[in-house]
Amino acid sequence: MSYVLVIGAGGQIGTELVLALRKKHGKHQVVAADIKTECPPLLSSGPYVQMDVLNRDAVRNYIIYKEFDEIYLLAALLSATAEKNPDFAWRLNMEGLITILNLAKEGHVKKVFWPSSIAVFGPSTPLDNTPQTTVMEPTTVYGISKLAGERWCEYYHTKFGVDVRSIRYPGLISYKSPPGGGTTDYAVDIFYKAKAGKPFKSFLKEDTMLPMMFMDDAIRATLEIMDAPKKAIRIRSAYNLAGISFTPKQLSEAIQKIIPSFQITYCPDFRQQIADTWPNSIDDSQATHDWNWKHQFDIDAVARIMLKKVNLNNF
Ligand code: SER
Repeated sequence: MSYVLVIGAGGQIGTELVLALRKKHGKHQVVAADIKTECPPLLSSGPYVQMDVLNRDAVRNYIIYKEFDEIYLLAALLSATAEKNPDFAWRLNMEGLITILNLAKEGHVKKVFWPSSIAVFGPSTPLDNTPQTTVMEPTTVYGISKLAGERWCEYYHTKFGVDVRSIRYPGLISYKSPPGGGTTDYAVDIFYKAKAGKPFKSFLKEDTMLPMMFMDDAIRATLEIMDAPKKAIRIRSAYNLAGISFTPKQLSEAIQKIIPSFQITYCPDFRQQIADTWPNSIDDSQATHDWNWKHQFDIDAVARIMLKKVNLNNF
């Protein structure tokens, strides 16, 4: 049984990861940490601590005192928000990582998980079936911070033996906790409108194909990579991870199979330029080879579950 800390626990991934980790290790074994002063209601089943990841001394003192087995560092600004506040995004996305990697190097935590993203790729990357190792010239602040973070993870592993593991998440689709500030958020927002019987205005063009994944698959991938034997994890930057790829039009068609009257219109904004630089689909054969990764949820299953589960009070 591990003693675990999840930083950024109040976010889209953090909320579901804390719940899954508490199921696995026991609710008192998993501390949720977030910038919010009040514990988010979904996390009230176990310990909660208010934490500003940029307050390095406070973070260090707390972690040195507690001696966690595993830390999941999820606090970050996503792609669209980061473009509006580049200085802060760079600081938040980088400084927290370096603080945690140093704690791991000093032996205060055994294993670290840090999320990377499809945003590490850029316009010069092959966009179809994007390979694990390829040209990476991201054009967003978020992508630059994720690529730099990947390099730091590999560096701390090679140089100091830090056991850090990472995944390049595609756009994540979930109903428990909303995403915030991402380019792929349309694929969540659309379900709230559809369920409310309203038309949806997409901020991406109808034919913009992006790699996506249902949250249950993403959480399972996270647990699986963390459970894999150390020597199986041969990539210490971040693994490509694929789920499903679809366009706004294809997603609206999947919804129309269930709600035939659903309407979508297209009104691209600045997020279109971001999406245009990201892959259409991902080759994740390395993750399959090294730690047996395989996604489960297809687009019709995602549409069915989301339309059933989204809670309109959350919107
Ligand atoms: N979902 C993220 C975003 O859109 C990508 O990692 O910013």
